[in-house]
Amino acid sequence: MTTHQIVLIPGDGIGPEVASATTRVLEEAGAPLEWFEQHAGVAALESQGEVLPVQTLDAIRERGLALKGPCTTPVGKGFTSVNVQLRKRLDLYAAVRPVRNLPGVPTRYEGVDLVVIRENTEGLYSGIENEITDGVVTSLKVATEKASTRIARWAFQYARERGRKKVTVMHKANIMKLTDGMFIRCARDVHANEGFDDIEHEELIIDAGCMKLVQDPTRFDVLLLENLYGDVLSDLCAGFVGGLGVIPGANIGGEYAVFEAVHGSAPDIAGKGVANPLALLMSAVMLLNHIADTRRDESCRDVAGRIREAYNRALSEGQKTRDLGGALDTEAFASAVIARL
Ligand SMILES: NC(=O)c1ccc[n+]([C@@H]2O[C@H](COP(=O)([O-])OP(=O)(O)OC[C@H]3O[C@@H](n4cnc5c(N)ncnc54)[C@H](O)[C@@H]3O)[C@@H](O)[C@H]2O)c1
Repeated sequence: MTTHQIVLIPGDGIGPEVASATTRVLEEAGAPLEWFEQHAGVAALESQGEVLPVQTLDAIRERGLALKGPCTTPVGKGFTSVNVQLRKRLDLYAAVRPVRNLPGVPTRYEGVDLVVIRENTEGLYSGIENEITDGVVTSLKVATEKASTRIARWAFQYARERGRKKVTVMHKANIMKLTDGMFIRCARDVHANEGFDDIEHEELIIDAGCMKLVQDPTRFDVLLLENLYGDVLSDLCAGFVGGLGVIPGANIGGEYAVFEAVHGSAPDIAGKGVANPLALLMSAVMLLNHIADTRRDESCRDVAGRIREAYNRALSEGQKTRDLGGALDTEAFASAVIARL
């Protein structure tokens, strides 16, 4: 059996806790993965003097794939976000965040099954901010036709491969006429000119789109957004199905892919051992399926399926962490999943 070398970045705050629970489940499930631990975020700043060491980037470039815990970015200080940097430096242009109801996790909504696809490399997260004069600052929103077209193409292609029916582009092109105007135009062009007539294409101005989302998230299928809107909407959508503890994610580029939960380092619960490891575990399941798709290793798909069944059973049987109304801590939930593999 082939063993796949994966860079593991435990991250900050709850990161090491959920990473350790996740790798334990993967190991018990027999996932053919070999970990290479590297650091990013505050953990790297403390040990290596920078938030995103070259060594970490090189390790991902060499092995192609990483599983990453959340990294803290100090607010209002001189650091650009580790996550934004990582996505840009490795050109991980597509963020994919599936949002689905889970068995045993009742919420206000039923039947939610949507995927947020976010352009991950530009927009307002260009990080170009200037102080013009005292009390006047600017933040530059950068959009390129190239990035807007490739994310649209990626989203329609993804929709088709996954048997999905509709891509909804959310935007603010009524105000951001050039940037968002180009984003929706590129999506329109890809849809019209690249043979995607089997997929429905819809456009919604994002404020009204948010209202429609909270009224009935089940009418949505694939959402396509630029960087900032995608960031905000991912957390909003997490709220439909149980919160940030259950939303996985992947950052995918042409050459590399980094899998990570949508949630952050959760400083309010860090160090207490109570975080839900499910979002990172689900991200690891996405990683295994990605390996199966791109490296044709079906054993990874089998392991992914067994882990998914095990956590679904655990949840259905009331084995849940506190964020989902249960009583288990991080490690106890991992053990409950392992017991059902
Ligand atoms: N991909 C990333 O590395 C990433 C993503 C988002 C935020 N961040 C960083 O994380 C830090 C904290 O950000 P924040 O507080 O806005 O968001 P957060 O996602 O860390 O936390 C928001 C809320 O959700 C809860 N929560 C999050 N994950 C959970 C889990 N697995 N189990 C149970 N509860 C969970 C937290 O306790 C908190 O109440 C910031 O420095 C931010 O920059 C990093």
